[in-house]
Amino acid sequence: MSNENRSSFTGKLGFVLAAAGSAVGLGNIWRFPYLAAEYGGGIFLLVYIILALTFGFALMTAEIAIGRKTGLSAIGAFNSLNKKFTFVGWLAAIVPVIILPYYSVIGGWVMKYLWAFMSGDAVATAGDGYFGGFIGATGEPLFWFFIFIAITALVVLFGVEKGIEKVSKIMMPILVVLTIIIAIYSICLPGALEGVKYYLLPDFSKFSVKTVLAAMGQLFYSMSLAMGIMITYGSYMKKDTNLESSVSQIEIFDTAIAFLAGLMIIPAAYAFSGGDVGKGPSLMFVALPQVFKQMPMGTFIGIAFFVLVLFAALTSSISLFETVVSIVCDKMKMGRKLACLIVFIFSLLLGALSSLGYGPLAEVTVIGMQFLDFFDFISNSVIMPIVALLTCIFVGYIIKPQAVISEVELNGEFKRKKLFTAIIKYVAPICIVLILISSVLSAFGIITL
Ligand code: PHE
Repeated sequence: MSNENRSSFTGKLGFVLAAAGSAVGLGNIWRFPYLAAEYGGGIFLLVYIILALTFGFALMTAEIAIGRKTGLSAIGAFNSLNKKFTFVGWLAAIVPVIILPYYSVIGGWVMKYLWAFMSGDAVATAGDGYFGGFIGATGEPLFWFFIFIAITALVVLFGVEKGIEKVSKIMMPILVVLTIIIAIYSICLPGALEGVKYYLLPDFSKFSVKTVLAAMGQLFYSMSLAMGIMITYGSYMKKDTNLESSVSQIEIFDTAIAFLAGLMIIPAAYAFSGGDVGKGPSLMFVALPQVFKQMPMGTFIGIAFFVLVLFAALTSSISLFETVVSIVCDKMKMGRKLACLIVFIFSLLLGALSSLGYGPLAEVTVIGMQFLDFFDFISNSVIMPIVALLTCIFVGYIIKPQAVISEVELNGEFKRKKLFTAIIKYVAPICIVLILISSVLSAFGIITL
């Protein structure tokens, strides 16, 4: 239970940037906009922000504090605090194993688009059916998926994450600026205003339990919560770094990028397809090429954009891969190289299902979903809420909120102490239970949401 053998981040900025590198990724740029478009626009945004300020804040604080207190990653951390709760660490550890493969499939799509823009095919990507044709094929999506996961694996194998992280620290601010520019352009397109309204003005008639479930899953996903990752990051955090303000900064950064991505993509989808935004995972890949096609220097801006998104995706996939490798190393007592190889092969197999799920395997569905959607659903809407619930119970009633509070108060006052306690003990567990029950009932057709 000591921190002595663990390397630490240098100072607060180092910690915040590293955690933000894991948090900011495809979740913000690809996943957030299509969920917002699908689940009612403004109302989704509002629910998301409320959840981020309450659930997100409480859970992230708890996870980082648990990590820093024990100096261990998820499984060990739960185990050292209470043996009976070791299974929560295991459950959390399953999540990155499920996410990594399909995350890499989407990462491959980004690479394909980058390649298309670089090789002069930018205009073609804006054509009708281009995206559908691409993901419906067999070899090409598999090829790009392979390249993406191979790069991720090589970075982890050779331990050059630090290099990638340094580059991405320069790229991330550029990504923000570029996203703002594209968002402004997209808002000004004819017909885009409807989309802006849809995205920013909450329509309360569109509110449903599904909105909350989707927003909650997205919150966990985007902030890398309920999967043990923030516990691991916390274990590397120095005792004299201010925990509460670090959490705020990570949350603000992550939410701002997601917000901007929505502002860039949803109005464009309205401008080009008149509100037909229910395109799910393809939204970004269909809407953005059309924006770039109309923009002055669009090909160049498109290249820059996809390069930046690729880096954001890589820093996230690296943190996913690294987590899975460290679990395999620790628990199966094997060397890093072998663990990397095993994780790589496993991800290739599982990811191939997701990749082929839009093409040759399109007929095969699991509980009515294609593979990618299924993996996304089972991790985000089922396992993560359960892990979050168990974490709240664990902190609220087993180790008691005071354990987290005193860890936070190692340096300065914990300003939102009362809010934290109320959410962890009462609000979050009750809401999560209600949401889980209603989504299970609706899955079995007992109620309609
Ligand atoms: N939070 C990342 C994103 O928004 C995804 C991710 C999840 C990364 C879990 C690492 C771990 O893209």
